[in-house]
Amino acid sequence: MKTLIVYAHPEPRSLNGSLKDLAVATLEKAGHQVRVSDLYAMNWKAVADAADFGPSASSPLNVGADSGRAFDTGTLTPDIVAEQEKLLWADVVIFQFPLWWYTMPAILKGWVDRVFTAHFAHGIGEFSDVKYGDRFGEGTLAGRRALLSVTVGGPESHYAERGINGPIDDVLFPINHGILYFPGMEVLPPFVVHGAGRITDEDYSVIAKAWEQRLLTLESTEPIAFRPQNLGDYEMPSLTLKKGLEPEGRTGFGLHVR
Ligand SMILES: Cc1cc2nc3c(=O)[nH]c(=O)nc-3n(C[C@H](O)[C@H](O)[C@H](O)COP(=O)(O)O)c2cc1C
Repeated sequence: MKTLIVYAHPEPRSLNGSLKDLAVATLEKAGHQVRVSDLYAMNWKAVADAADFGPSASSPLNVGADSGRAFDTGTLTPDIVAEQEKLLWADVVIFQFPLWWYTMPAILKGWVDRVFTAHFAHGIGEFSDVKYGDRFGEGTLAGRRALLSVTVGGPESHYAERGINGPIDDVLFPINHGILYFPGMEVLPPFVVHGAGRITDEDYSVIAKAWEQRLLTLESTEPIAFRPQNLGDYEMPSLTLKKGLEPEGRTGFGLHVR
């Protein structure tokens, strides 16, 4: 198995740094190939702008269209091309990051903004009255698995069904569904460490065991059952969920899980 770890934390001796190191060691020991994109260490440029598209950038700039043209003509910058190649190389992509303001750190969002270009991650397939592209279950990254490994300051109860922050599956839905399932990846249930600011050595050994267990079962873990866009669950062209498909009483993001 080939695993890419996209890692976003500025401090190697952090909890996130330890979980990343443990993932590399565990996977390599089990005979898997591992590559790491350590975004802070790489000094990753976090903003999408005209400089990403080489001489083919238009004026006025249109980030979507320009990124697709640069992808087609091979004029994306080498740092973006390298990350796209790593994604195509990988069978599994792990994202290791702390929850910052209910989402990923800006450097990682910037990685998504720049690497998930048009014609690579979106804008693929037929767009018509009967089809709205190859997305949500189909796309360039189909056949790959993705996993969020997230450390969270708040305790589990704050992210429970009735917790003040909203359920963790809802908080992570825009990433799991909107970023990872969108270009076709199968998304595994996240590995979440709660109360991450107050981890004792004892806590860490329990967490490390659980993390190793998840890492060694990446190939057999059942993905989240997001509904494919193009297999009949949605009305066209509105792309609204067909009436009656939702389990009794289900609303919100949960509608899009079978
Ligand atoms: C800028 C910033 C934003 C944060 N936002 C959240 C948040 O939205 N929810 C939460 O539960 N914890 C939040 N935290 C706490 C971090 O998630 C926590 O410190 C981190 O997961 C601990 O891992 P580390 O030791 O590897 O940094 C935030 C911390 C920082 C520095």
